[in-house]
Amino acid sequence: MAGYLVEDARKVTTHRLTEMKQQGKKIAMLTAYDYTMAQIVDGAGVDVILVGDSASNVMAGNLTTLPITVDQMIYHAKSVVRGVKRALVVCDMPFGSYQVNASEGITNAIRIMKEAHCDALKLEGGEEIIQTVRTILAAGIPVCGHLGLTPQSINKFGTYAVRARGEAEAEKLVRDAHLLEEAGCFAIVLEKIPAKLTERVCRELKIPVIGIGGGPADGQVLVLHDMLGMNNGFSPKFLRRYADLHGVMTDAIGQYVTDVKSGDFPNENEKY
Ligand code: KIV
Repeated sequence: MAGYLVEDARKVTTHRLTEMKQQGKKIAMLTAYDYTMAQIVDGAGVDVILVGDSASNVMAGNLTTLPITVDQMIYHAKSVVRGVKRALVVCDMPFGSYQVNASEGITNAIRIMKEAHCDALKLEGGEEIIQTVRTILAAGIPVCGHLGLTPQSINKFGTYAVRARGEAEAEKLVRDAHLLEEAGCFAIVLEKIPAKLTERVCRELKIPVIGIGGGPADGQVLVLHDMLGMNNGFSPKFLRRYADLHGVMTDAIGQYVTDVKSGDFPNENEKY
């Protein structure tokens, strides 16, 4: 079953992603947070694996991405890297690890790269963090930007509603996207913005634009647990569910409970 639509089995690089945009080939990106899932995601042909700080939500059960630490992100990223052969592995820099100043940002960026062995980092924000982005890039670390709905700023926004519907916010987003490209970012994630705005940024930028809830773009990213239907309660309009793993897993575990309690498991063939 492995190897869906993989035209090029070589390890994906940031350079390859730029080529894909030039050739009109779409980029498939998903999150992963552990070794076993990363092996499956990589084997199924995903081009970019994001070790998202959404681990704070889906792995640790926090309401926001804010509590996750650099140590915890390194743990997740290390586990993912061990399971990946082909995909480019991008790790989120967590809240608080790069917002203070460029010096703290580069220290944490180097630590994540050294310890996690990932390929690149993702930071949320535009003009406000551009100096930090430049400093990290100057150290030779590839950076992916993230604009639109930036979950690390949820307390400022106060809502997970669509961003940049108004002209002023839309124009700032376009300026920020250009700033990130000019600084040397290899890609930008645009989260939950109007499709027309995504289309404009895709047209104006040479680097790939990866959408989540932003309509068609050069590529798409989803949170793995959401697209696999493991989170029953989360169903925004933009989410396409490819499986009902919540149902499948609940049925399997329920059957196991029944079998243990009835004495059906283990049977004659399942013992030594
Ligand atoms: O942390 C994450 O999963 C992300 C995606 C939503 C893009 O940043």
